[in-house]
Amino acid sequence: MSTNKVNFSSKIGLIAATVGSAVGLGNIWRFPGEAANGGGAAFLIVYIACVFLLGVPVMVSEFALGRGGKSDAVGVFRNLTPGKKWWITGMLAVVASYMVLCFYMVVAGWTLEYLWQSVTGHLYAADPGATLDSIDSYKAQFAERMHQYIQEDWSPLVNTYVMIGINLLVLMAGVQKGIERLSNLLMPLLFVILLVFCVVALSLPEAGAGLSYFFQPDFSKLTAKVVIGALGQAFFSLSLGMGILVTYSSYFPKDTRLTRTAVTVSVLDLLVAVMMGIIIFPAIMSFGLQGEAIQGTTLVFVTLPEVFAHMPLTQLWSSLFFMLLLVAALTSTISIAEVTIAFFQDRLNMRRLPACLAVLMPLFIFSTLCSLSLGTLDGVRIFGKTIFDFFDTFATNILLPIVAMTTCIYLGWFAPKGFLQQQMTNEGAVRSWILRPVRFIIRWIAPVLIFIILISPLLFP
Ligand code: ALA
Repeated sequence: MSTNKVNFSSKIGLIAATVGSAVGLGNIWRFPGEAANGGGAAFLIVYIACVFLLGVPVMVSEFALGRGGKSDAVGVFRNLTPGKKWWITGMLAVVASYMVLCFYMVVAGWTLEYLWQSVTGHLYAADPGATLDSIDSYKAQFAERMHQYIQEDWSPLVNTYVMIGINLLVLMAGVQKGIERLSNLLMPLLFVILLVFCVVALSLPEAGAGLSYFFQPDFSKLTAKVVIGALGQAFFSLSLGMGILVTYSSYFPKDTRLTRTAVTVSVLDLLVAVMMGIIIFPAIMSFGLQGEAIQGTTLVFVTLPEVFAHMPLTQLWSSLFFMLLLVAALTSTISIAEVTIAFFQDRLNMRRLPACLAVLMPLFIFSTLCSLSLGTLDGVRIFGKTIFDFFDTFATNILLPIVAMTTCIYLGWFAPKGFLQQQMTNEGAVRSWILRPVRFIIRWIAPVLIFIILISPLLFP
């Protein structure tokens, strides 16, 4: 068994790091759009059910695997079930997380650029001759700017490289001095910024209408596709199936209460998503932007800059928002990179620094390809997709569900007898009232539901 394991030094640090990994672009730019398409609170109810009935049990199981196996995502399977092929699941988690890292780093670079442009005011400087007195001209300007920007060769690459450099500095400093310290600093900042935006959004003229839109359920929009979308969203947002939670929980001390930690992390992750809804819906109602894209890149790089342009203190709000996005993206990228770093340290016995370099340096090639595939290399297609989209779709839609599903099957049926119970009760030191439901869910419910997520693109092409 690997011996070079460190632990997080405090409970707060452990929660901050794990929440930092969970809270990312999933909450900020995916959730509001999904909620709007899924009938507001109708979607929210289903989403909350997915988080607690499926997300928490799978998270507890991943924590058990990491803390009990005390190794990287591959090593935990080898340590617990030597001589069996279950480690392939861990290997797939390493591949999936690395593919996510390649394109996530590019998006993190975009947020850095937009933060910079907000701070300097360039984002809101009108093009010569443009009249920016109507919403349409703002919209056209921001949409054009975003499309031009992501298709450029150099600027997005420079920002991506800066993000790789920042990740390297944090990760080189190690689990306690790097990841934990940064998370302790950035997570409170993230919640403070979110709170400030909630207050601002609630003081907007049409705040009431926005909140009703978000909190009034429209069950007619709740189709099977929306429900499966909620499941997928819960998985991505809680960082399940990526090896992240297994890796981070291998740094959990022995007395960490796994159920309590999983519930805390899931509630905070959910809270961020709901706060984003409380911010976005009043804002789009108040500035007459109903019907505009409130999802993905368009939400954050087009619609929200439009909102800020109509508010007093434009630059301040814009800078704060992109700082929020950058914090969310940075704490997620370091957790995603840590999966492969731990793998190199534990499997190949590498020291921390070479392991960090071995993981981050190849990004200068892979993230570069992802970035250029949105412009110059658009013609290079893998199964009909750009390199960026291929990495995204293959990792998120195929590898992550496979890893999550096989992890549940392993823990439900094939892990050493009594393993889950030992971990959930801290070897009998504490009681775990959800042990039975968790075992039932990961044996019978989770694998089936995750399989449905996996085949959903075939069901709803
Ligand atoms: N859980 C991370 C996110 O939501 C990956 O972005």
